[in-house]
Amino acid sequence: MIQELSYVGFASPRFEEWRTYGPDLLGAMLKSDGPDGAIRLAVDDINYRIAIHPAEENEFRYAGWGLANETDLHAYVGQLSDRGVVVRWAEEELCKEREVAELAWFQDPWGLRHELSWGKTATPNSFQPGRVMRGGFVTRDQGLGHVVFQVPSLMEANRFYADILGFRLSDRIITDYFNVRFYHINGRHHSLALSELPGHVGFNHLMLEYENMDDLGRAIDLLKRNDTEIMQTLGRHTNDLMTSIYITSPSGLQVELGHGGLVVDDLSWVARTYNKASYWGHRYSETAQSRPAGIINPIN
Ligand SMILES: [Fe+2]
Repeated sequence: MIQELSYVGFASPRFEEWRTYGPDLLGAMLKSDGPDGAIRLAVDDINYRIAIHPAEENEFRYAGWGLANETDLHAYVGQLSDRGVVVRWAEEELCKEREVAELAWFQDPWGLRHELSWGKTATPNSFQPGRVMRGGFVTRDQGLGHVVFQVPSLMEANRFYADILGFRLSDRIITDYFNVRFYHINGRHHSLALSELPGHVGFNHLMLEYENMDDLGRAIDLLKRNDTEIMQTLGRHTNDLMTSIYITSPSGLQVELGHGGLVVDDLSWVARTYNKASYWGHRYSETAQSRPAGIINPIN
């Protein structure tokens, strides 16, 4: 089974801007560039977990999912193949670039690329936040954070992500404006969420969680300096109880910066349906109201 969101990669013409956006605003640590010139960021002692590749258009590239060990990875790849998913093992060169021991990959029904790996490289005591922070990022047994994709059909997506891949439903939020399903693979309330956007597929946002509320507050103070817009004001979500803001990034996707997310116990967890996304706050900016957020493409 998949155990964590291990890393994420996307591409953008403004990739270079992440060299400052990542450390100065988010507090991530700038690491050495990738072989194609990608900007790479660490949020803990794992050598890097976020890569922004150079490209002419904003593109989602891959979500990297971590498995516990080589036995689990091989068993899981076998299981997916039995269920009709075309899974390919990556060459040594790609494993080296991602700094993992072994890597296999597949695409979802709309072409979103997912990578499966184990043994990602860490350097103990190496993480230094890119700006003054009181704590670090919440990672460890909860992985990098969460990713949210737009999919043309939530039911079809659920068949793939839940029934075939094994993501476990945490809950749903259904309002007049959106229909979203949230999935967990460890204690983090959701490492993946899927939002319905008929006729489209997209990468909506990446969420990073701070251990300390003050580091979220500091991010808000630093927004102006980094020319970054708030897309949803500070608020608290009903389902994962995260206090967060949503901000623009140089590359189309939004970044949710949060604190205080719920940890779920899978043994007793029962999926609910909520009719509100937030207890308070999360007011949409004018830009956020005018178009759906993220790197979005019509499906062919
Ligand atoms: Fe989120």
